[in-house]
Amino acid sequence: MPVVAPARPSLERRLAEAADLVTVALDQLLPRGEGPEARLTEAMRYAALGPGKRLRPYFALETARLFDVEERSVLRAACALECIHAYSLVHDDLPSMDDDDVRRGRAAVHRQYDEATAILAGDALQTAAFEIMAHPDTHEDGEVRSELVFKLAKASGAKGMAGGQMIDILGLNGDLGQAARMQRMKTGALIAFAFEIPVVIARAEDAKRIALRGFAQDLGLAYQIIDDLLDARGEAALLGKAVGKDAAKGKANYVTLLGAAAARERVELLSSQCKAHLDIFGEEAKYLRESVDFVLDRRA
Ligand code: IPE
Ligand code: IPE
Ligand code: MG
Ligand code: MG
Ligand code: MG
Repeated sequence: MPVVAPARPSLERRLAEAADLVTVALDQLLPRGEGPEARLTEAMRYAALGPGKRLRPYFALETARLFDVEERSVLRAACALECIHAYSLVHDDLPSMDDDDVRRGRAAVHRQYDEATAILAGDALQTAAFEIMAHPDTHEDGEVRSELVFKLAKASGAKGMAGGQMIDILGLNGDLGQAARMQRMKTGALIAFAFEIPVVIARAEDAKRIALRGFAQDLGLAYQIIDDLLDARGEAALLGKAVGKDAAKGKANYVTLLGAAAARERVELLSSQCKAHLDIFGEEAKYLRESVDFVLDRRA
């Protein structure tokens, strides 16, 4: 078989290195149980240590290189974020939500275990995130830890991921404005938090904070549009999850509202808009810029 050379070799190496770092750290941070509750800790580990892309932690780690910060702090905070993301996926797949049986190429948690265990594993991953974040090992300054906890809670809650999931589940036949708000909440908020991690830890100057916020906002929206395009047109075998579900469930997103071609145009627009926010960082933000093309061109 011909060997296909990676399109962006150094970026792909950086992504793989970040993913490994995060998986090893999560393995150490997540509880291992004995006794009857071991079923719960096993399910948490199954959900969080499965083969995810670890894009949110990658963004935190890559952005941290723009600042003078300790990688250990960023890595722990990124693991906390990945726990919230893993919990969101476990609950997203439940029969009462998207009712999906396959996640990351394997049985969803409620299929591998059972529904009650999946609910509890999601709950406990959520609290594990805050336990990791609040621990003194994350940062010596309690104020920094408290700001990270506060911002992660906001990104995860009623005005963030959980609120966006509510709007998604209601399937309101809204307009594009409503769909944009939903996407900003359900997906954008956690992606944006990845960039807040180094910003908070480095106590970054305002101009850089604002630039990264603009970048994250456009990227988050584009990311969910790509997810929706892949649902409409992607291959389940590559994606490791079912496809064709959004239209069947009557979900109102950019693809179901605008059609695939117009949604793709939006992604292109968001992609160049988003990279322009990074001008302030010059050549140093090379990999962040490249990663935009990488994640928006993805098929898996
Ligand atoms: C899937 O997220 C759900 C969305 C918010 C689009 P990812 O595409 O980051 O999933 P994993 O973590 O790589 O499995
Ligand atoms: C999920 O969006 C966003 C979350 C907050 C989990 P989707 O429901 O489209 O994600 P997938 O396609 O199941 O990964
Ligand atoms: Mg969903
Ligand atoms: Mg889903
Ligand atoms: Mg989807």
